[in-house]
Amino acid sequence: MHEQPDYCPQPDAKPTATNTAVPIWIVVLTLVLVFLGAVYFDRHSGWFDAKVYGPFTSVEQLAAYQPQSGEAALAAHGKVVYETVCGLCHGSDGLGKANQAPPLAGSEWVAKDLVSLARVPLAGLNGPIQVAGHDWNLAMAPMGAGLSDSDLAAVLSYIRTAWGNKSSPVSEADVKAARAAISGNAPSATDLAKMTPPERGHEVFKKYGCFQCHGPDGKGGVSNFNAKTAEQVPSLVYVADGYNKAELLAFISRGERVIPRKNPNGPEPPHFMPKWGGIVTTNELSDLADFLFSLKPKGEKLDF
Ligand code: HEC
Ligand code: HEC
Repeated sequence: MHEQPDYCPQPDAKPTATNTAVPIWIVVLTLVLVFLGAVYFDRHSGWFDAKVYGPFTSVEQLAAYQPQSGEAALAAHGKVVYETVCGLCHGSDGLGKANQAPPLAGSEWVAKDLVSLARVPLAGLNGPIQVAGHDWNLAMAPMGAGLSDSDLAAVLSYIRTAWGNKSSPVSEADVKAARAAISGNAPSATDLAKMTPPERGHEVFKKYGCFQCHGPDGKGGVSNFNAKTAEQVPSLVYVADGYNKAELLAFISRGERVIPRKNPNGPEPPHFMPKWGGIVTTNELSDLADFLFSLKPKGEKLDF
């Protein structure tokens, strides 16, 4: 007979399960792993975007997502310039607006040789013209004079190929040549640097054709049928009395689309103040304001 070792369980002992708390480090580790997983998903996945996970159904569809180059890119950029600078008058559809601007869609002007076409946005267009068999007698300021060669090439290419127009696109070199042919007598950069700000501002006034509506040297006299301001585009000789420089720059940049009518039931006046922000550069605007302030006859107090 030998003794039972004392570590032996009693024969009637049964295994039991008790409730013990999960160790805190497992909880923390799980949370950290979930967090890191979320960060990884955030950085490396496309958030289930159809463009990442969706199957392409055609080569055209895939091509539409590729970065564009050449003529397609030129036309796409031209559309942006068009909507910003020209579309307000000629319309997004290129159909123009009655009593405001002739159509560009189907216009023989758009199909003309490049120097004749570029002359319109660079030098403006005044007086009676025919477009697709209809008479127009309005004025367009040189709305494109402040655009770079590449922006102008893009916008002209756009109007020559959009809305069913079928003329050749225009290159930057074409625009450079046309600009040189048109602005032969404009002062050079060295000439401009020697001028005082009001003198430079006078050149800006001529460059953008402000005189077409505000008269030579801003003295007024241009008729604007049914406008409340004596049926004329206002003279600018006394703007120094109505605006300080910041206000004047803000007004010119913003323009004024809706011209108050003399007879409220009469037609919309043909001339409105274009929005010059983004067309006239910041330096030019400052010189322009100095020029306009200098118009006020000497001897009268400038109270701004
Ligand atoms: C503030 C309004 C206005 C803006 C902005 C404007 N135009 Fe015009 N455009 C006119 C008017 C008005 C005429 C007609 C002038 C006339 O009767 O002699 C015209 C005429 C034309 C013509 C010749 C006639 C025709 O319909 O084909 C072309 C080309 C043209 N504009 C292109 C442009 C381009 C390009 C831009 C932008 C860079 C532009 N215009 C911005 C008002 C505008
Ligand atoms: C297509 C015609 C047209 C052109 C081009 C034009 N303007 Fe105007 N401008 C107007 C009209 C119309 C008004 C009157 C706005 C109103 O009644 O609210 C006006 C108003 C103004 C005023 C405010 C005058 C006042 O007494 O409050 C200033 C300043 C001005 N224009 C400056 C310019 C400058 C600078 C340019 C050239 C960069 C220019 N305009 C080109 C039509 C034009």
